[in-house]
Amino acid sequence: MTFERLQDPTAPVRIVLVGAGLMGRNWLTTLTGSRDVVVAGIVDLDIDLAEAARADFGLAGAVVGADLLGVARAARAQAVINVTVPRAHLPINTEALFAGLPVLCEKPIAPTVSEALVAAATAEAAGQLLMTSQNRRYYNSLASYRDALGEIGELALLTTEYAKEAHFPGFREQMPHPLLVDMAIHAFDVARYVLRLDPVSVWCETYNPGWSWFDGDTIANAVFEFESGVRYRYTGTWTTRGLLTSWNGVWRASGSHGTATWDGERDVEVERANAEAALPGTGSSVVVSRGFSTPMRDDAPEEIAGSLADFIDALRTGRVPESEVHSNVRSFAMVEAAVRSADTGKRVRIDSVLDEGYTAALDAPLPDEVRAVLVSWGTARAGLDAVPAPAS
Ligand SMILES: NC(=O)c1ccc[n+]([C@@H]2O[C@H](COP(=O)([O-])OP(=O)(O)OC[C@H]3O[C@@H](n4cnc5c(N)ncnc54)[C@H](O)[C@@H]3O)[C@@H](O)[C@H]2O)c1
Repeated sequence: MTFERLQDPTAPVRIVLVGAGLMGRNWLTTLTGSRDVVVAGIVDLDIDLAEAARADFGLAGAVVGADLLGVARAARAQAVINVTVPRAHLPINTEALFAGLPVLCEKPIAPTVSEALVAAATAEAAGQLLMTSQNRRYYNSLASYRDALGEIGELALLTTEYAKEAHFPGFREQMPHPLLVDMAIHAFDVARYVLRLDPVSVWCETYNPGWSWFDGDTIANAVFEFESGVRYRYTGTWTTRGLLTSWNGVWRASGSHGTATWDGERDVEVERANAEAALPGTGSSVVVSRGFSTPMRDDAPEEIAGSLADFIDALRTGRVPESEVHSNVRSFAMVEAAVRSADTGKRVRIDSVLDEGYTAALDAPLPDEVRAVLVSWGTARAGLDAVPAPAS
């Protein structure tokens, strides 16, 4: 798939932000600090919120309204950043893409795999870039951790321990699986990023402790099998008290020649061991080196500034960015598969989630050109594989 590039690759890109809630305001902090973009419009169903954001961020020139296309036209927008609630993602993305506007959309790309597949087909039909902002891919220390995994031989096991006390009044407290659907997507996506592999199946259990302030399950234990047989184990909680981990969790990878850890913030540690030089009488490998042989990365923008930089660069150069929608569907499929496993007690194959999503997508009412793209795929897998993930 190819998408339209910006005609002038040096001028600041005129952005309309849709959704002026909690995360929309975080985005405005990043957007107003960037030289690559101009906030030309702010859209929210709640116009008071959009107007308050315009005033608070000193954006007197920005057009405000509740109607995306009207604001985009008046603002001479070139791209949209969608920070609305998940159920509004697909309708807004569709409206923007068919109006010729590329979109950077907050995670999760859609509430279901079926809608996520429709989103990918819509981007193809419109010939525009749709990218998910998986902002937790963008940490210099994580990029270094990914390098480190290349230094410890054949991988067998990757784990994440994630523990937070999360107080988010609003839609998350009513979701049936708030931790899996709203948060674990980040870790699942990072597992794909560092392993450079796709997931095959998952077994997952979830539950909610008696003291939880959420309606849905806030503790999850999931084990994914990836291509090559490596297993990824995720243990997460949003209702822990004390000794919290970082928002990224704590990571550990075991390989044939060593172990690499990431504290989820700054520290990457690597210990390489040589099994052939076992200690006499013990059978234990000898540690041959500690520390990371590749220089730590430290120069790229992080978190949502990283997503934004990747999006803008892709618009200017035409290269496929991280988390372009086709690739991102597979991270979201990990969530849906984990939820299904938790609900049924059975191991769930990622391909079966994609296949069922594809069938449901074809059963839904769709614009003719989107249906035609979906039909041309033949299977979800073929459609997703047709757009290669970035080689970085
Ligand atoms: N990446 C991260 O770290 C991170 C953190 C928090 C939230 N998020 C994501 O950001 C998104 C928004 O979360 P939030 O916490 O800001 O939610 P929120 O409820 O605070 O804000 C959402 C805003 O969208 C507006 N909205 C809803 N439907 C709309 C529509 N059709 N048109 C225009 N505006 C509409 C609402 O009025 C509201 O102001 C979610 O997808 C969430 O998962 C990501």
